[in-house]
Amino acid sequence: KILVLDFGSQTAQLIARRVREQDVLCMLVRHDLSVERIKELNPIGLILSGGPESVYGETAPKPDPEIFDLGIPILGICYGMQTICHASGESVKAGDVREFGRADCQSIDPNADLFKEIPEESVVWMSHGDQVENLPEGFVSLAKTSTCPHAAVRHESKSIYGLQFHPEVTHTKFGSQLLKNFVRTICGAKGTWQIASLIEREVEAIREYVGNRRVICGLSGGVDSSVVAALLYKSIGPQLSCIFVDNGLLRKGEVEQVRNEFTNHFKTDLHVVDARDRFLDELAGVTDPQQKRKIIGRVFIECFRTEAESIEDAHFLAQGTLYPDVIESGANADGPAHTIKSHHNVGGLPAELGFELIEPLRDLFKDEVRAMGLELGLPPELIWRHPFPGPGLAVRCLGAISEDRLVTLRDADAIVIEELHNAGLYREVQQAFAVLLPVQSVGVMGDARTYEDTLAIRAVETDDFMTADWYPLPYEVLQKMSTRIINSIRGINRVVYDISSKPPSTIEWE
Ligand code: XMP
Repeated sequence: KILVLDFGSQTAQLIARRVREQDVLCMLVRHDLSVERIKELNPIGLILSGGPESVYGETAPKPDPEIFDLGIPILGICYGMQTICHASGESVKAGDVREFGRADCQSIDPNADLFKEIPEESVVWMSHGDQVENLPEGFVSLAKTSTCPHAAVRHESKSIYGLQFHPEVTHTKFGSQLLKNFVRTICGAKGTWQIASLIEREVEAIREYVGNRRVICGLSGGVDSSVVAALLYKSIGPQLSCIFVDNGLLRKGEVEQVRNEFTNHFKTDLHVVDARDRFLDELAGVTDPQQKRKIIGRVFIECFRTEAESIEDAHFLAQGTLYPDVIESGANADGPAHTIKSHHNVGGLPAELGFELIEPLRDLFKDEVRAMGLELGLPPELIWRHPFPGPGLAVRCLGAISEDRLVTLRDADAIVIEELHNAGLYREVQQAFAVLLPVQSVGVMGDARTYEDTLAIRAVETDDFMTADWYPLPYEVLQKMSTRIINSIRGINRVVYDISSKPPSTIEWE
């Protein structure tokens, strides 16, 4: 395995994930892990991450100096490289050489192992305030950029390498190849590790941590909570209780699907709370989007709490927090990520429910969670299901919500999704759904005049849901959706297509 020593970089997890993409086990550890402990963990290589500090800062984090004598390959990235040079007694220059973003990197020694199969010139991504000025004794330069004479270095006799740029980000064109060269060629990793090993490790860790106590897990019908539940079930079986609050705002077939999975396949102790009437009552006559969200958030917590309290020996609460949630909520407190998060939390649970939290997916990225879910035996339809907001259909049923309108919306949405599948486009778009508008217009059906609601179709493509563009669905697909909806769903006589991007629109309509 490879250990990544985390010096506080935003991208430390990303480094670990890139290594795992090479089918090599990788663990993130504290930057000052003792050399004794490192020996126990027995890694085949170490990567020192970047970090926000300057190596000259008083609080500059430092690794155990003996790691350089372990005899295993070491790669320092950005701050990690500066640490290596600093530890070897050389100067790191601060100030006027700050460099952020794209740079052209030219290799000096194209035969170096680290640069195997990488062109002599390639684009790399820099993000640093300091850089290494003079190379410490015994080090040679492997690559440079126009402002950085030592963009990549290595020790002449020891297997110690440094990079001033970030190979883990996708903007560094050959970054993955570079990391592959390090872990596979230089460290000699076989590349036989699979997601299954990650599951084994998680399972062991959960068993040890949980002991014989009970864990409750809230299911939402989405990927993350399902994977958490499946993972816990594999780890502790009957000590797991799942709670699924049916708020009546779910997509068609969703309750049955969860019930099927978690009573038949995983055979967990599943508590389905039928809170449909409760939610409908509380939402009666409410039209303001923020008000809807608030009510749904509150009622969900109340329902969940009551059910959780009925499970007597419950000790832990499992949550499907992913790594991107962790960084987003830590960084940029005032940035857009934060705003998005605060409404993401609608349909989430507050910390003060009184349980000890466990978050087994905290170190993982979405695609790793999906891979894990498939490996754990969750059905692919669930794994690839489009995301669905906590407040559910309530924020897609504009204006006042009623049982009838929810049924209309749910059926129309099912047609949109079915036609998307029929056209083979479901996985081309990241999210698609129907929105029921409180707008009536005149139509004619048979010989009769109608005056009925409008349905909007939304389909977007996006990388991260922070920005998105409307997806150009083919006319034939739109036509099928429209015809089926108007012909088969009572109360809708007009279908429109949403052609707005985010920003300035949002993905959801409320
Ligand atoms: P917007 O509408 O803000 O949505 O562009 C971005 C993504 O977030 C989802 N979303 C939510 N998810 N609780 C959630 O769990 C919420 O309250 C919530 N609101 C929006 C939305 O479906 C889209 O994927």
